[in-house]
Amino acid sequence: MLPFMSAEEAAKFVHNGDVVGMGGFTPAGAPKEVPTAIAHMASALHAEGKEFKIGIYTGASTGDSCDGELARAHAISFRTPYQSNKDLRNELNNQDAHYYDMHLSELAQDLRYGFLPKPDVAIIEACEVTENGEIVPTAGVGIAPTICNLADRIIVELNAAMPPVMRGMHDIYEPADPPVRREIPIYHVNDRIGFDCIKVNPLKIVAVVRTNRPNEVAKFADLDETTQRIGNNVALFLETEMKNGRIPKSFLPIQSGVGNIANAVLGALGENPNIPPFEMYTEVIQDSVIGLMKEGRVKFASGCSLTIGADKLQDILDHIQFFRSRIVLRPQEISNNPEVARRLGLITINTALEADIYGNINSTHVLGTKMMNGIGGSGDFTRNAYCSIYTTPSTAKGGAISAFVPMVSHVDHSEHSVKVIITEHGIADLRGKSPIQRAHEIIDKCVDPSYRPLLNEYLALAKKAHTPHNLALALAMHQEFAKSGDMRNTRWENYLK
Ligand code: COA
Repeated sequence: MLPFMSAEEAAKFVHNGDVVGMGGFTPAGAPKEVPTAIAHMASALHAEGKEFKIGIYTGASTGDSCDGELARAHAISFRTPYQSNKDLRNELNNQDAHYYDMHLSELAQDLRYGFLPKPDVAIIEACEVTENGEIVPTAGVGIAPTICNLADRIIVELNAAMPPVMRGMHDIYEPADPPVRREIPIYHVNDRIGFDCIKVNPLKIVAVVRTNRPNEVAKFADLDETTQRIGNNVALFLETEMKNGRIPKSFLPIQSGVGNIANAVLGALGENPNIPPFEMYTEVIQDSVIGLMKEGRVKFASGCSLTIGADKLQDILDHIQFFRSRIVLRPQEISNNPEVARRLGLITINTALEADIYGNINSTHVLGTKMMNGIGGSGDFTRNAYCSIYTTPSTAKGGAISAFVPMVSHVDHSEHSVKVIITEHGIADLRGKSPIQRAHEIIDKCVDPSYRPLLNEYLALAKKAHTPHNLALALAMHQEFAKSGDMRNTRWENYLK
């Protein structure tokens, strides 16, 4: 008999100091009611003057009922590998919780290698759980198989909003560890190599909580002129590459990043008649993919989660036969696997917060110090891409911030991994170019016209060398924003003193 109980009763299996692994990936498939119950339990204990904090592993971000509730209850001691919740972001930036930002493909193996503390408890959202220990995840897989294997106790949220017809969408596979690891036998985007469920020792399932909760996926911003132009430029670049024989006529699988820009870019790419129907080997399957799939523009999508709005998820459930044969959800160590990314020849399209004139990318730190979300899978894909592309609007905050600066205030992806940068203004092709050639290419093609003179002046003031810099001025645009709230006010002479 499965141990059915309330979320409050299940929460009691989690103790102060425990390390808890959450299933799912993004708000898709992340547990909801048990984390909220743990947060309430923590608040009650804190009110009595007792300590209660837990360490948390997730696939990626989660919904507000997990990260938000636990952050507001000050119940998190450490957190890895990715988040996007505003209250948790405050906790991390105030150093109230420790955050370890890491490549998402590496988390499961680092847990198995013992590099990080072993999880005590795994909390998994499922659309089906059986008495013999078969757990079928919902819209996101993340690190669920690994934490189920490693944890002593497993709590299942059986979510009626995610019906058992989802079984068959997942491909659950965990590689062996070195020195006996073999190749991951994925040779085509749609290859299936594992099981349709996670298999666990049923004795470890200490609680099953019935829930009926939709995913807490935020709505994406609509396409605007800037994102439409970025999308058109990406399509133009890929079309030209195909014409010049650098991308095969049959095309190559696309990986597309997270967030508003990525969703909009993919939408624009899909609508471009000069790009043939394509496959995706990606991490997060976002809203725009579903429509493109119905139109036949996306032929197949392999991912780690369906991070889509409730209407899109309902569409999938209503047409489950159609979508089950076109979508596969894998653990993140496989969806983001460097070996597979390199083998399949992925065209990767991710979003930068900030880039520098030499092509280094900051994806994570606002103005050098404040954590935004995390590196996510962007490094897994960028470093191993057939062709790595970064997109960004050329400015942020109404023009007061230039996305292009002399030196990035934090480096996530180095100049060695970034092949192309694209904004609404144009395409900077960095392949085979020296630093000074890259600087001119980026300033001329990608930078907003209101910042081009400033960055050209910087180059003139930089010390002539392989990578020209003026170290007194390299972060002056950031300092100017901190001082006056607008990088356009930068006067280099004010920072030379
Ligand atoms: N400095 C300061 N703030 C900046 C900025 C900069 N250079 N560039 C953008 N911002 C701000 C925007 O103004 C916006 O702020 P707001 O929420 O207050 O309006 C915010 O950052 C997000 O920008 P937006 O343009 O909406 O981008 P997005 O939703 O597409 O997200 C990233 C962009 C970089 C934050 C997001 O893609 C990310 O977290 N990437 C890292 C992980 C990743 O790439 N994963 C993909 C792997 S598969």
